[in-house]
Amino acid sequence: MQFNPTIIDHFTNPRNAGEIADASGVGTVGHPVCGDIVRLYIKVDKKGADEVISQVKFKTFGCTAAIATSSVATEMIKGKTIADALAIKDEDVAKALGGLPAIKMHCSVLAHDAIQAAVADYRKNTGKTDLADKVQKENQAHEEKELLARKK
Ligand code: FES
Repeated sequence: MQFNPTIIDHFTNPRNAGEIADASGVGTVGHPVCGDIVRLYIKVDKKGADEVISQVKFKTFGCTAAIATSSVATEMIKGKTIADALAIKDEDVAKALGGLPAIKMHCSVLAHDAIQAAVADYRKNTGKTDLADKVQKENQAHEEKELLARKK
């Protein structure tokens, strides 16, 4: 499979790999078909009215693209507000890597879902469960869509 130099760079030199012991939120998502797993840790600090992601780390057990998308996703949300992180789409993650092979587009969905799950966990830890249900449903919908696509 042909990966562009940006993907190879993030795979061979992943940014923000590791974990945060006292994370504000942790999101773990897995792909139902390939079995890859992404775990994203975020540390959130209040800056005035804003909630800012001051630290982010990831642990990914998966393919080249899963590691590269996790890595670039951490760069995309580090220093950003929670609102900005939630606005990131899976296409944005793929674009930040200069594109992904079609068969690997689902890896960017996994990175996106991990961001959403980590933020939902943070919100839950601060007493707001609204997002948790929404994110869980969306992630489930992604999984079902993948399973159906593979059955065709
Ligand atoms: S092959 Fe499934 S996440 Fe990459």
